[in-house]
Amino acid sequence: MPVYPGAPKVRAGRFGWLCVSNNGDCFCDNFRAKAVAAFVGLATPRGRLSGETRSCVGSGGVPRRDRAGFAMLRAVPYDPTIYQGAAAHYRQGRPPYSPELEPVLAEEAGLDGRGRFLDAGCGPGILTVRLARLFEEAVGLDPDADMLAEASRAAKGKGLSNIRWVQALAEDLPGAAPGPYRLVTFGQSFHWTDEERVAEAIYDMLEPGGSLALIVHTVTGRPRPPSPGLPEIPHEEIRMLVARHLGSTRRAGQGFSAPRGHRFQDVLVRTRFGEPRVLFLRGVPDLVRDSESVLSGYFSLASSAPHLFHDGGRTFAQDVRALLIDRSPDGLFWDWPGDTEVVLAHRDPQQATG
Ligand SMILES: C[S@@+](CC[C@H](N)C(=O)[O-])C[C@H]1O[C@@H](n2cnc3c(N)ncnc32)[C@H](O)[C@@H]1O
Repeated sequence: MPVYPGAPKVRAGRFGWLCVSNNGDCFCDNFRAKAVAAFVGLATPRGRLSGETRSCVGSGGVPRRDRAGFAMLRAVPYDPTIYQGAAAHYRQGRPPYSPELEPVLAEEAGLDGRGRFLDAGCGPGILTVRLARLFEEAVGLDPDADMLAEASRAAKGKGLSNIRWVQALAEDLPGAAPGPYRLVTFGQSFHWTDEERVAEAIYDMLEPGGSLALIVHTVTGRPRPPSPGLPEIPHEEIRMLVARHLGSTRRAGQGFSAPRGHRFQDVLVRTRFGEPRVLFLRGVPDLVRDSESVLSGYFSLASSAPHLFHDGGRTFAQDVRALLIDRSPDGLFWDWPGDTEVVLAHRDPQQATG
């Protein structure tokens, strides 16, 4: 059984623990998400919410709505501390995406080894490094210098020499990394951006027929594989430890997270991309993680990044380790990260680049 590092996706909104989808730093609990969404009046198209929270809630916690009834997006300025201290934990702490990702993207996006690839919000280069071989040239873009340093190290370790790393926001596109691209990905990062504006910018940067893929882990509604017999990660108790150390309102950078009430699809349908397709690729069913990777998973989240703790996370780490040794004396846990959800959209093949 392979031992992979991994992490849960935990979210707490300003109204308490809130799960809107297994997306970004989010942990799914759709029932409660819907209840909270109903309370705050957020739209829940098809009963499912997704994404993280850099947008959506107007002053006083009341979301503004557009004419279609969806909560309107309200971008907030980038906070450079959201992942402060998290980069070193990310690769060890986050679970891998589905092994089906490369063949499915190759088929769906018509990849043949040529063309260019942009991975936006690349973090430590998880997708950039996995997919770069499918292109002549790849660009990994992220505003966080520590994430890019990890990414560059990982690429060197794999002997990849066709990746360029760019420190910038997705909102700085196209200037920061001009197209054309055959494929643009956002892995658990699109929700941090000014989504509609960024999607429109990406549309213009794609080759005719080029593809945008928004990629996340999704647990809600996906068939759960049988347990390989190891204890499960005690996420609920670890979340209680996070709350004990950081308070019960979900933190993010210098502020707090707010709930989010729309899916990526709801954004893309309002852009020139139109209605995207949503694919679910089978997640790793027998992921085994050790205690340190579980802890790293929490430190890799914006909501429990090391900088948020007064002592850099030292006492939190002690508490988590004590809990984990109690739950699994071998220090091994089963984790199911969910399936890999790919929200896929294309530029019109007839439309020439401007
Ligand atoms: C959850 S990590 C995702 C890392 C990686 N893409 C993956 O698939 O695991 C989110 C990343 O988005 C980056 N980010 C945050 N705001 C951004 C923005 N406005 N534009 C681009 N990237 C952003 C963060 O610095 C962080 O590295």
